[in-house]
Order: sequence, then structure tokens, then C-alpha cells
Amino acid sequence: DAERWADVLDLHGTPAQAYPGDADDNNPINVFADLGAWHAYALPRPQDPLGGFTGPLYLAQEYPWWLSDGFSRLSLTEQGRTLDLAAGGAPQLHCLPGLLRQSYDLGGGLAVTLELRFAGNRTALVRARLANDGASDRTLTVAWSGALLRPVDAPQHDAPTLVAGERGIGVRFARVRQTWDYLTNGTERFEVRHADPVRAVVSGDTHRTELVDAVRLAPGTTRTLDWTESYTFTDAEYTRAVTEADAALRAPEAVAAAGAERWAGYLSRATEGVPAARRRTAVKCVQTLVTNWRSPAGRILHDAITPSLSNKWFNGAWAWDTWKQAVGTAVFAPELAADQIRAMFDHQVGPDSQAVDAGMIPDCIFYNDPSTGGGNWNERNSKPPLASWAVWEVYRRGGDRSFLREMLPKLTAYQQWWYRNRDHFGEGLCEYGATVDPANATAEDCRQAAAWESGMDNAPRFDAALGTSVVANRDPDGTLLGWSLTQRSVDLNAYLAADHRHLAAIAAELGDPPTADRLRARAVTIDRAVRESMFDQATGWFHDTDLTTGARLTARGRGIEGAIPLWSGTASPDQARAVRALLLAPAEFGTTMPFPTVARSSAYFDPAGYWRGLAWIDQTYFALEGLRRYGWNQDARRLTDRILAAGDGLTSDRPLRENYDPLTGQGCNSTNFSWSAALLLLLLRS
Ligand code: GLC
Ligand code: GLC
Repeated sequence: DAERWADVLDLHGTPAQAYPGDADDNNPINVFADLGAWHAYALPRPQDPLGGFTGPLYLAQEYPWWLSDGFSRLSLTEQGRTLDLAAGGAPQLHCLPGLLRQSYDLGGGLAVTLELRFAGNRTALVRARLANDGASDRTLTVAWSGALLRPVDAPQHDAPTLVAGERGIGVRFARVRQTWDYLTNGTERFEVRHADPVRAVVSGDTHRTELVDAVRLAPGTTRTLDWTESYTFTDAEYTRAVTEADAALRAPEAVAAAGAERWAGYLSRATEGVPAARRRTAVKCVQTLVTNWRSPAGRILHDAITPSLSNKWFNGAWAWDTWKQAVGTAVFAPELAADQIRAMFDHQVGPDSQAVDAGMIPDCIFYNDPSTGGGNWNERNSKPPLASWAVWEVYRRGGDRSFLREMLPKLTAYQQWWYRNRDHFGEGLCEYGATVDPANATAEDCRQAAAWESGMDNAPRFDAALGTSVVANRDPDGTLLGWSLTQRSVDLNAYLAADHRHLAAIAAELGDPPTADRLRARAVTIDRAVRESMFDQATGWFHDTDLTTGARLTARGRGIEGAIPLWSGTASPDQARAVRALLLAPAEFGTTMPFPTVARSSAYFDPAGYWRGLAWIDQTYFALEGLRRYGWNQDARRLTDRILAAGDGLTSDRPLRENYDPLTGQGCNSTNFSWSAALLLLLLRS
């Protein structure tokens, strides 16, 4: 059955250098990882050197690098002659759910199958199966060889060193602290452990490992050879990985069976209710999310999902990415969905602390925080408040009430933080803003951080040139609480209305009707304020409003954020009708690939401009769900079909993308992007 889902994503390729990125820092070779491992593999193309898995790709804490173009390539010799793995026909090189498989026909009845799957969050298990279906006895010498790929620049060039061990080859890593390129502590290790006695020899950057005893295969017999490949950061992890590896080598079949069962569960849940023609895309969504799964390491304390292992800059966990990813992940793996939410809440600013930002969730977290030299970690701002939605959706799928109990106080503290630190006039409407942080030193720094807080980094509505700046927020005794933009954002307040409703649902589910009622009443108040102050009759659209005058900022054009009041149920039926008309209009948001983040009619529309016009699957999802919420199911269905037809590679074996050109559907920016996978998975079922 797993064969039905072969090669939903093209994983073939062999790198020529250690740096995996192309000119845009995206790895053109898609990889596979599972169980949250911090190393990943691909498959050779038929014309590449054969006999091994491409890689591994490993994370130097925050950055992906190729360790090798194929660390453990198997070779067989017979009477001094190296056998051609493809002598009997074209090799079969496939990616299946939860594993990579290569099948070789060497001619004369001799066949070799290689399978790689993960046995734990630090360990891959590889099995070679040698079969003799020929008529004569075979006596084979088995060896594995490979070479290191090194980063070009010093000092990371010298980070890895091959070492020969009793069970196989290993790599030790020197300490390197290149904030923007390569990070190791000097305790990292990669280690191969063979089940059978081997002799490993290192020569510079190449190694060769030989099986001590020759393999004798009588006609009709098979022989399996198992080994593990573990990548670990600390001594404690290494010790645990040795146990993990030895257990896998003692029971490789159990590892395979457990993996097959886990993946069968993922896929039956992910494809349930998905029309047959869309199921391969659903499986690609699952595979994308699972490959981006990282287990606890460094400052990441729970299993997390990163935006993309394929992009140099996307190997941390982001707040609003996580909320969206969790909603999709919950469809097939509710516990992983819950854990990725926990991974962010682990770094909530102590809700009971005296800190100015008590209750806040940072923008993004990484292996390192600033105290260990992390540059990517960012607490200069938060991200849009979609956490209660995520928690509620994870509960709806997983049914774990204790998760609701655990999260309710944290979600409450986060919601309160918005109204304490981001509601400049204390009027019940919020602004995106920036925290009190050394990096938010100037007004321009704060404006930039506030734009990041929206998640729409460079949307025209945040342009300094269009008059956007910041004001300080202070508590009654004058303590600086942070900054707000000089505009109230429509998406933020619609998200907050939804946050109140989801939190109300959680409180109600936990048997607290008074709290639920209070939260619902507040949601209604927010809805009314958004409807009355942010909808513009003349433009037929929702807009941000000026903080002091209250004027709707229509001169900045229409942005897709104006559709969020449909998703949140905030818009009146008349307002929703007006928004729908513009969502469908080809000159506005109804483009070939719907929905650009900035309307085509806007003076600021740029089809390649990141949040200035590209179509992003999260906003697409919110707009489609908004249409559905007001009863336009037919529109939503038609548009979903159009998206699947127009979006580059959505239904082929090409990777999902971060965003799409709204006029052509061409895929842009990061490949294998998690929130595209998570929300597409939901759209496929509708
Ligand atoms: C990027 C991200 C944003 C992050 C910022 C600083 O622009 O959009 O999420 O806050 O970099 O790391
Ligand atoms: C980019 C996006 C931001 C997102 C981050 C991680 O910076 O602008 O919205 O959270 O990447 O995917």
C-alpha cells in the first residue's frame, strides 16, 4: 500500500559542495527526515554514484550543511572485481512514506535493496539486503566508503574530522561560532554503527569500512546488513543515541514495523475525506511537515516544526508559523501538533513575572538564544495572536482535555499581554508593535519590529514612506511597556476577536461558563468596533485606521488582511458581500493564483514583492474559510480547484513553496514550506 505514495516529492540529487543553498539559499535537493532528527537524506539520481543515500544533511545548530555527497556508499566485490550495481537493469530509487528505498539488479540473479528509515530522533537505520536468486554460490566482499564535504570558509572548513571506531566510521566536530553561517559547540558527533564486525580506515577526508567476513550466498538465500547513522549535539545525547542505535540494530524489523504503522496512521488520517485526485498532494503535505520536524535540542525544549529544512534561514520555530502548522499537523499527528505549540510557550515571558512583557511569545526561537550567541532568535516583537485557535483545533482533533487545561492560563496571559502592551489608548483595539529590547533602539527599529510582529514584514501598510511610525506605550506610573504602530490593524483585531471566541470555547469545555460568557461578550465588542471603524464604504474593504484621527488608511490600497474579518466572523453580511466581490474580481484579488497579499489594483502591488503581492497559502486559507463562513461554499470550492491547478507543482512531485506569483502561479522563495503544507492539507479536504 505504501507503494501508492511513492515519490510524492522528488528527492533525487547529489550535491557538489557542502553548502546546500542555491543563490536564494534554498537547497535544490529535497531531503527526508523523520521523528525530529537533525540530519536528513536524499536519493541519488540514476546517473549519480550509486549504492548510498545522499547526505546526510546535518544542522550546524541553526544551519543546514551537507556532510557528504553519500557518506556510506556500499560496494560489492567478487574475486577482486567490483560489481556494477546497475549491471542487470536500471536501479529503482524511491521515496516512500517513512523511508527511502533503492533496489539494484546486479545481473545473474543477484539483487541488493537498501532501505533508510529513522529509528529515533537522533538515529537513522539503514538496511542492505543481499539476495541471490541465481543458480550459483556467490562470495562477496562488502565495503562502505565515503568522503567529507567541507564548508569553503574558515573556520567552519575545519569543523568536521573523520575518526575510525570499532563499530564503524564517525565524525567529530570542532567548536565554531559563526553566528550567521555555522554553529557547533565542539561536542557534536556523527556516528555509524554496524551490526556486524567491520574494519574502518580513515585516510584524510575519505574513509573505507570493510565487513570483516565475506558474505557467502548460496542460491535462494539472502543476507541482511544493518547499520545506524546518528547525529548528536551533546555528550548526553550521544550516550542516549548509542542506546537508541544498539536497540535498533538488535531489532531492525521492529523499527521498520513501527515506522510503517506510524506512517499508515498519518496517511489514513491525512487522506480521509480528501478526493482521490488530491491524495498525493495530501501525502506530500505530511512528508513536508514531518521532514521539518525537529526534536528538542538546545533551547528548543519540545518537538517543533520549522518553516523549512530546505532554507538556510528557516531552522528555528516561529510563533505564527507554529500556530498555523499545528492546525494542519493536528489532522494526522495531534501530539506533534500540541508539542510544537509547547515549544513556543516554553519561551513565553514568565506570565507571573514582573517583566514588562509578561505573557508575550517571542517572534522566533532557535537552537541558541542570545545568551549562547544566537543571532536568529528574535524577541523584539511577537507575531499575530492565533495561538488559541491552534490550541482549540488541536483539541478538536486530538481530544486531549488536559492539553486545554495546561494551555488556558498561558493563552489568557498572552491575550492580556496584547491589551496591556499593544492597546495604546486602552480602548479595546490593538496595534502591532515592538518590545523594550536593546535592538529596538530607534523609532525605525521599532517600526521594523512592529512590521515583523504582523508577520507581513514589508507590506505597504507598514512603509515608513507612507507615514507609518511608532508611539511609546507606558503603564500608569510611566514605565515603558513597548511601542505601538501609529495605526490599528484590521487583521490583528479580527484575530483577537477570534482569539476571544476560541478561548471562550476552551473555558466552556473546561466547565467555566462565566469566563466563556465574558470572553464571548468581549469578542462581540471587538467585532462591533472593527465593523464600525475599519470598514470603508467607498472602497468596499476593511482597512487599518490611523491611531490618532481614526481615519481609514485607504490610500495604501487594499491588502488581503481586509478579508480576515470574514474568517473571524466579524464582518456584517453586507460587508462580507462587498469583500467577496473584491476577492473574486480578477483586477483585485481574483488573480490566476488567488489571492495576492496586495490587490492588483493597488499602486503598491508587486507580484514578486513578498508581502506586497505574492499569494501566501495562509492568507488564502483564511480568505477561503471566510467565504465559507458566510455561506459561499461554492466559491470556496471553485477557488480551491483553481489554486491547485495554478500553483506551481502543487499536484506534481515538486516541492511546496513559501508563496506564489499571483499572476502566473510560479512558486517563490523557500521550498518545502511548512505552513503551506499544513494549510493546504486542510484545503484539500474541502
Ligand atoms: C525576518 C522574519 C521575522 C523575524 C526577523 C528577525 O524578517 O520575518 O519573523 O522577526 O527576520 O529575525
Ligand atoms: C518570514 C515571514 C514571516 C514568517 C517567517 C518564518 O519572515 O515574513 O511571516 O513568520 O518568515 O516563516
